[in-house]
Amino acid sequence: MKRLLVTGGAGFIGSNWVRLALQRPDLERLVVLDKLTYAGNLANLAGLDADPRFRFVQGDIADTETVGRLLEHEPVDAIVNFAAESHVDRSVLDPSAFLRTNVHGVYVLLEACRAYGVGRFLQVSTDEVYGAVLVGRSTERDPLAPRSPYSAAKAAGDLLALSYHATYGLDVVVTRGANTIGPYQYPEKATPLFITNAIDGEPLPIYGDGKAIRDYLYVDDHCRAIALVLDAGQPGEVYNVGNDEEIDTLTLAEAILALLDRPRSLIRLVEDRPGHDRRYAVDSTKLRALGWRPERDFESTIAATVEWYRQNEAWWRPIRNGEFREFYQRLYGKRLGISE
Ligand code: NAD
Ligand code: DAU
Repeated sequence: MKRLLVTGGAGFIGSNWVRLALQRPDLERLVVLDKLTYAGNLANLAGLDADPRFRFVQGDIADTETVGRLLEHEPVDAIVNFAAESHVDRSVLDPSAFLRTNVHGVYVLLEACRAYGVGRFLQVSTDEVYGAVLVGRSTERDPLAPRSPYSAAKAAGDLLALSYHATYGLDVVVTRGANTIGPYQYPEKATPLFITNAIDGEPLPIYGDGKAIRDYLYVDDHCRAIALVLDAGQPGEVYNVGNDEEIDTLTLAEAILALLDRPRSLIRLVEDRPGHDRRYAVDSTKLRALGWRPERDFESTIAATVEWYRQNEAWWRPIRNGEFREFYQRLYGKRLGISE
């Protein structure tokens, strides 16, 4: 895999993955295709222009011409697809962009793989496709039962990719990762939202009773898993990526407040997310058999994440002052009793 197209590479996980991939001396070319939606940010790729192997192209994965033109000029061995609408709460407010990018966009990329002879397609999917799992752990063979427009659209893209392996013999691999946190995550997601609110002395909105469980995974651990599956995953196979930890939202918020030396009184229990999945938990035995292990536990993951946001206010402050404000008011205005 010497020449790569990384779609959605200007987002959170994608940009961290691009930095990791560029550390490989055998890599000859890495092209990022990203639409630069509200979540895409060239600042996430700052400094990479200096590497002659790297190129950034702004464009939409759901646009056949854009993808075709790019692959005609930049033949690649593999596409690694991070591009997606990724926030559950936005999918509740308006699902349309989720269907276009997470389903139709994947279809366009798969067709392009066939048309331009791309050797491997890696679809970055999510543990949310299994739906809420109240007991036990989801294995890759479990049926999918997504419960939000976001996760339903991701499940459709994930299954469509696998269908191209069964039907057309395309070399497809899928990863289903747990809730990922770390540097460069747009501050709409719970962890960076709680950290930046806490730094600003604003309330932390906790949905429902704060007991929903997630398995928080450090972004570098997730990125190493994706790199390993790209290199060593078997065609047509799915690999779960999880840390085997169970952290509820109140515990997450309390850990952040303690690290920032802020009072527990900033916690606000607010109206729940509609269709809020109570728990996700994946079994990642299959990936571990390829040699992957997470390097960080929850304590170290949250400490490193809080520290990055503390040190990188210049990255997140302009975001909080931009489009984010309108979104925040729309989602939390009534919940937190904040008037415009
Ligand atoms: P993100 O929202 O930070 O980034 C998404 C990127 O995709 C942005 O740069 C955006 O501009 C780009 N994009 C969106 N629509 C596009 C389009 N039509 N064409 C081209 N680019 C487009 O997302 P993230 O959190 O980094 O997630 C990346 C991938 O990983 C997603 O597929 C997501 O479903 C999956 N995932 C995320 C997590 C998590 O906890 N964040 C966990 C498991 C899986
Ligand atoms: O599990 C993988 C998924 O993790 C990815 O597929 C998604 O792209 C990613 O956004 C993430 O989804 P979650 O819904 O789990 O993450 P989020 O950060 O939005 O929420 C984490 C938990 O915190 C969840 O139980 C909802 C809760 N929450 C979230 C927000 C934004 C709150 O209590 N208050 C909030 O304001």
